Amino acid sequence: MSEEATTILHMLDPRKHVSPFDVNMAADAGYKVIVPYTGVEIADVTPLIQDAIFSRPPHYGVKTGFFMGGKDALLALDMIDAAKKAMVPPFECSVFADPAGSFTTAAAMVACVERVLKFKFGRSWKGTRVAVFGATGVVGFASSIISALEGAKVQLVAHRGFDRVVKSAAVSKERFGVDLEPVNGETPEGKREIIKNAEVIFAAAAAGVKVVSREEMDLAKDLLVIADVNAVPPPGVEGMELFMDGAPLAGSNVLGVGPLAIGDIKYKCESGMFKQMLSSDKPLALDFRHAYAMCKSLTGLA
Ligand SMILES: NC(=O)c1ccc[n+]([C@@H]2O[C@H](COP(=O)([O-])OP(=O)(O)OC[C@H]3O[C@@H](n4cnc5c(N)ncnc54)[C@H](OP(=O)(O)O)[C@@H]3O)[C@@H](O)[C@H]2O)c1
Repeated sequence: MSEEATTILHMLDPRKHVSPFDVNMAADAGYKVIVPYTGVEIADVTPLIQDAIFSRPPHYGVKTGFFMGGKDALLALDMIDAAKKAMVPPFECSVFADPAGSFTTAAAMVACVERVLKFKFGRSWKGTRVAVFGATGVVGFASSIISALEGAKVQLVAHRGFDRVVKSAAVSKERFGVDLEPVNGETPEGKREIIKNAEVIFAAAAAGVKVVSREEMDLAKDLLVIADVNAVPPPGVEGMELFMDGAPLAGSNVLGVGPLAIGDIKYKCESGMFKQMLSSDKPLALDFRHAYAMCKSLTGLA
């Protein structure tokens, strides 16, 4: 074997394909060999990890990485846990979960908004009232957890099926110890009441769906910052501009953070996570908490 170990990334995905976005990110970050595995179930993780770690001498372990994709945040985290349990020291490797880009996107959104709160309002997440639209999606889910862990008072907004956000809040309490409040935004009145009460809004609904209209936003007298991750027209927040990064929305005092301001930090974060795995001298297990730490550093907050 040559002196320098070839860098190899095994990409696991429960769906029928892995994300080309993530493949490109991994290649550009420096992985030389990238292998996709699809239709992966949780029970497959242990044999796949052990197959990989025993094929290389232990000091090559850090050059072997696993990426957990898919579109289910809890399953990706379970896959990381299963991977960690499957290691047989000193035979180990690094793992990183970012299902549908959600951990790095949510981390970027939370850090970008935090920077605006800090520098424009002298505020932190502690006690800040946040309403999350698209809360049942992977980006909405991860951003609720990250901001709540930082002390925000987070509401998960249901747009259909209130019981689904109730369940999500219960799971979040059990897994992460955070108190998220399920709220019913299924009717126009319910939605307006939620927006009226918010200091920060995360618009994390599906691509091309407008979730907050200008009329609704104008009702929100306490609203400081509104962030939108949707880059596909129409914007998730009426009047949001793609590159806004703390500027006021036209004709309003509310500061906007747009999808490409968030996307820029997300992109650097995902690349940075792969580079961290490649340069580490010990095996790493990276999830949304590590992504958030990296985004804080990328936004100058840490
Ligand atoms: N800027 C970036 O760098 C970046 C990176 C990745 C993703 N994104 C964007 O992030 C957003 C969320 O992605 P995701 O992967 O989390 O999506 P997802 O898992 O498909 O979730 C979408 C969420 O939107 C909700 N939704 C769908 N239609 C809605 C409507 N008419 N009104 C209100 N809510 C609605 C869904 O609710 P149901 O569960 O009821 O369907 C779900 O909660 C997308 O716009 C995506 O393009 C941005």
